[in-house]
Amino acid sequence: METTVRNKQVILKHYTKGFPEESDLMIVTSPDTMELKVKPGSSAIMVKNLFLSCDPYMGTFMREPDSGSSDSEVAVETLSLLDAFIPGKPIAGVGVSEVIDSDDPSFAKGDFVWGIVDWEEYSTVSSFGRFKIDMSINVPLSYYTGILSVTGLTAYAGFFEICSPKKGETVFVSAAAGAVGQLVGQFAKLMGCYVVGSAGSKQKVDLLLNKFGFDDAFNYKEEPDLNAALKRCLPQGIDIYFENVGGKMLDSVLMNMNVHGRIAVCGMISQYHLETQEGVKNLQVVVYKRIKMQGFLAFDFVDRFSKYLEFVLPCLNERKLVYVEDIVEGLENGPAALVGLFHGQNVGKQVIKIA
Ligand SMILES: NC(=O)c1ccc[n+]([C@@H]2O[C@H](COP(=O)([O-])OP(=O)(O)OC[C@H]3O[C@@H](n4cnc5c(N)ncnc54)[C@H](OP(=O)(O)O)[C@@H]3O)[C@@H](O)[C@H]2O)c1
Repeated sequence: METTVRNKQVILKHYTKGFPEESDLMIVTSPDTMELKVKPGSSAIMVKNLFLSCDPYMGTFMREPDSGSSDSEVAVETLSLLDAFIPGKPIAGVGVSEVIDSDDPSFAKGDFVWGIVDWEEYSTVSSFGRFKIDMSINVPLSYYTGILSVTGLTAYAGFFEICSPKKGETVFVSAAAGAVGQLVGQFAKLMGCYVVGSAGSKQKVDLLLNKFGFDDAFNYKEEPDLNAALKRCLPQGIDIYFENVGGKMLDSVLMNMNVHGRIAVCGMISQYHLETQEGVKNLQVVVYKRIKMQGFLAFDFVDRFSKYLEFVLPCLNERKLVYVEDIVEGLENGPAALVGLFHGQNVGKQVIKIA
């Protein structure tokens, strides 16, 4: 292996307004070479990044934190594990990496790890928030950007902890063919629930029905009346809604919730880049129907991570779960993949393979 390299990075050009675009990011190769060695005494780890995760919150982190855009401020403050992106610097997210040098006794050259890394080929990182990957588990390394890391924990905690599902209940999942949604739907099927999902294309609806085992599904872009679509697919009403999109879908779901229903508010991607938030008109049914509606962050549940792995690994092993990834190759294709999330381009978990 080479001992010096020029590092390729994905840099935020400037703070964004509205929907992030590919042109808000640029690929830069450092003019100077860097040594693939950590400084002795630094306790640092040098890694070669292999896979990067694309996540919707990253679009929010591209905006100026004090720009008056309430959701970007709140998102950055709350996700205190991460810093807002800074123009001129690389963006960052969950990544899977190989340790190539270490001054930290708990990590050795040749270990594989996952955690937050800058979007670049090589990073010097600390052990904080860095998880060693057990290579005896026979799964693709890319799974540690998603099902075996934050995405998986999000689906698990949101569904089991917030929604308290019971066998036979009806579950509706929006953005159901995405990273989190595909898992929630399958977890709900494993619980013995009746599961319906919405997604934004025919291909995704087919996936929900024929690969993930949803009982019913619809393409929300082709439904002139979401309320009618929900009534058609869930005539018995909705006991559990796993909310990924917000906006009109939430309003329609509220009208179809059953008494004592639960709504896990995981995300509201339809609202993240709007200049003016759409607002919710039917919130009063939360009172009449005694609905529990709770927002959550995966980070609230880090203490459940090993319990989650004990649940999910046998499911994967016994093929009770399928997991679809949308892997693009090359760091230079990262910006398009990231902004594609906001236009529904990804089918399954969006991952970038960089080495
Ligand atoms: N609370 C947490 O800790 C946490 C952690 C991870 C993710 N999240 C949230 O969970 C949700 C799903 O995230 P993910 O990582 O699984 O992403 P994802 O579903 O894999 O990708 C995003 C998907 O959102 C859908 N979408 C985009 N714009 C939309 C719009 N205007 N209206 C309706 N759907 C739209 C698109 O699918 P279609 O083709 O179906 O439109 C797109 O493929 C997001 O809201 C995210 O912010 C929360």
